[in-house]
Formats: sequence, structure tokens, C-alpha cells
Amino acid sequence: MKEIKRIYRCNICGNIVEVLHSGSGTLVCCNNEMQLLEEKTEGIGPQKHIPVIEQTENGIKVKIGEVPHPMEEDHCIEWVELITDNGVYRKVFKPGDTPDAEFKINIEDINQISAREYCSIHGLWTS
Ligand SMILES: [Fe+2]
Repeated sequence: MKEIKRIYRCNICGNIVEVLHSGSGTLVCCNNEMQLLEEKTEGIGPQKHIPVIEQTENGIKVKIGEVPHPMEEDHCIEWVELITDNGVYRKVFKPGDTPDAEFKINIEDINQISAREYCSIHGLWTS
């Protein structure tokens, strides 16, 4: 059973998928089983990778780490997700962007909240 919201990567072509509905099959790409990406909280440069959640006037802001992360062609934060019990909110970045995302949501409706981000070199990180 593939759990919803899990992220899988093909280590051959680089495809990344997120499970929206769980099924019993194996996720395959390029004739190989896709790798489940573990959500990390420690490892190389956690201060550059762990997402930080802040409440704003309009909702919730997700910033990446206490130390700026490179946003270069071959090493960057590709996206962040804010995960709540009401839904998943995502912002995708490109090299040169500032990897901050503000999501205009009503926080009074939310009981659970977390964030995660994907670095093109260092993988998936969670708050
Ligand atoms: Fe990184």
C-alpha cells in the first residue's frame, strides 16, 4: 500500500511523483521501482534545508532554513509544500528565486500543519 502524500523518485530519469490516492501496486519508472523519499530532519546542512513555518497577517509563510540555500541551476530548492488537515499547498521554484512561499489560508480552520521541501541535491526535508 502506497500511503497518500508520500513522494517517490526515479533514480534513473529523475521523475518525482506524489501519491494522491493509495493503491497496492509498485510504482515503476524506467523499468525500475521508484524510491520512496524519506522526510529528513537531519543530515547535510539542516540549517539550510529544514522548512520554517511562520504565521502572517494573511495566512502561513514557509521559509527554508535559518541559512540561505543556493538557488543555482544544479542545486536549488525545487518546491515547498504546506500540509494541513484541509489540504496540501505547493509552490514551485526555479533557480534564482527566493524559496519563500506565503499561502493565504484561514488558520482558524486548521488543526494540524507541517511543511516539507525538496532540494535537488539533498532530497526531502520536513519541519
Ligand atoms: Fe541542498
